[in-house]
Amino acid sequence: MEKTNAFEKIKIKNIEFKNRIVRSATNEHLGDFDGTITDDYIKVYDSLSKNDVGLLITSQLSVNKNQRADITHICVDNLKNIEKFKLLTSTVHNNGSKIIGQISYGGHRANNIQNHIAKTPSGIDNSVAMTIEDINICIQDYVSAVKILQETGFDGAQLHVAHQYLLSEFLDPFYNKRTDSYGGTIENRYRIIHELLEEIKKIINPDFLITVKLNVTSKDSNYKDFFNDQIQVCKWLEQDGVDAIEISGCDYLNFNQSTPYYLDSALKIKYEISIPIILVGGFRDINQIKKALNCGIDFVSMCRPFIAEENFIEKLKNNEKSKCINCNKCFEIFKTKHTRCVFRNDVIPQLEKNFPNT
Ligand SMILES: Cc1cc2nc3c(=O)[nH]c(=O)nc-3n(C[C@H](O)[C@H](O)[C@H](O)COP(=O)(O)O)c2cc1C
Repeated sequence: MEKTNAFEKIKIKNIEFKNRIVRSATNEHLGDFDGTITDDYIKVYDSLSKNDVGLLITSQLSVNKNQRADITHICVDNLKNIEKFKLLTSTVHNNGSKIIGQISYGGHRANNIQNHIAKTPSGIDNSVAMTIEDINICIQDYVSAVKILQETGFDGAQLHVAHQYLLSEFLDPFYNKRTDSYGGTIENRYRIIHELLEEIKKIINPDFLITVKLNVTSKDSNYKDFFNDQIQVCKWLEQDGVDAIEISGCDYLNFNQSTPYYLDSALKIKYEISIPIILVGGFRDINQIKKALNCGIDFVSMCRPFIAEENFIEKLKNNEKSKCINCNKCFEIFKTKHTRCVFRNDVIPQLEKNFPNT
């Protein structure tokens, strides 16, 4: 069975990872409400890296504080974070792991925050349809964020093009009803991402990684061409210089199985491109991980198992399963008295302080 070892080193460009295990982007709800990093946030990354996670992808970091989707999202455009980012990246590096910052624009979810008006491709759900000027500002916001991540020691950036945040909304015809050059054909729906990658290329160092997290399913289940469109998008991402793609889907939390539910889609994409594939969703034991790696997946990424137990790698090495039961209470933090996981009793302090009765 043992062919590709989950715990062997692997490189992307000149960056060497101590193993093939990734903690996928996870909102820990530990940003302060002004968008700054808290000490508790750094502690989570210290602990995960001490516990041997090879690559940590941060919680989504908003590139524009007015377009964040959650009051606890950390904002890259809050310059108070510069020193904290440096502390975060050096902490992870000192423990021998790598760290990539996931960057996002909230899309329709930016309406979650009081007095904020979400900007989206076509103005659904009381949001405002983006003008060409808004699109150009958005591109510049991403570029500024990448510059900051690079200057503060991150190994790379991940564009959040999944889970119905702005960039995935552009790709998905369910959300993108535009009739200009940013809507309609897949080439048009991809245009904003292409333009963004062109701008990013101008400012990054050769060893700074650019990755993308991508949906393989559409919000519109009747749109049968979506997967083929996404294969085309993967080919363009590769041509546009992206170093790795993490495969996810719009229905990523609907699956209650403890099984890697996007494996088949990821393998089909792997066959079409040559950059590394990271697969997320449903991995709960070492045999599933070995199987995916042996089939050609390059990295296996997990979220909920690391919320339940930060020392999950040790359990994998001992052939023990995750204790996560996919209850998704970690996602519905306001319904769980601000406790991060049903198996833990640590409460999110700033939620507890500001929303004591929820
Ligand atoms: C509490 C919670 C927060 C999440 N935050 C993010 C996020 O900030 N960015 C992102 O791309 N995905 C986020 N996800 C999705 C995960 O990265 C992952 O794709 C999904 O949970 C499936 O993986 P799993 O089965 O290993 O949990 C989050 C998931 C949960 C449960």
